Amino acid sequence: MLKSGDLLEFPKIGDHRGSLCFIEGGEHVPFPIRRIYYLFDIPDGADRGGHAHKALEQVMIAIHGSFDLILNDGAEERSLHLSDPSEGVYIGNHVWREIRNFSAGAVCVVLASERYDESDYIRNYEDFKSTIQR
Ligand code: TYD
Repeated sequence: MLKSGDLLEFPKIGDHRGSLCFIEGGEHVPFPIRRIYYLFDIPDGADRGGHAHKALEQVMIAIHGSFDLILNDGAEERSLHLSDPSEGVYIGNHVWREIRNFSAGAVCVVLASERYDESDYIRNYEDFKSTIQR
């Protein structure tokens, strides 16, 4: 059973022309992929995230450059430094995430289990704390 913060290692095929990784939904990530989004052109010092999800599962990849991913399940907080495009971090539901310290030109790709739905977001930290204490 995957836990939030677990690293997924994607198949990597390398030769003298470079490297190729591939990701199949339900195979290399634990859900069918219904949406892909990416963060780029991040201004120096900007942070992203700052929310949790009620049902959404995601896998986050530093496809270029690096950033820190801070995950908080309400009991403990852990910080991961992502910089390898052949790895993804699994993020389950009811986990507060912050993304910080983007390197210049960093690109963060997110594979998501559902299409965009604003009603699936928990954007207030106190609301997040109270949902997980239930
Ligand atoms: P948000 O999820 O708050 O970004 P981040 O995770 O980087 O903090 O989304 C920013 C805006 O983009 C918000 O208005 C919702 C919108 N949005 C979509 O319309 N579709 C999407 O798939 C995503 C992820 C965001």
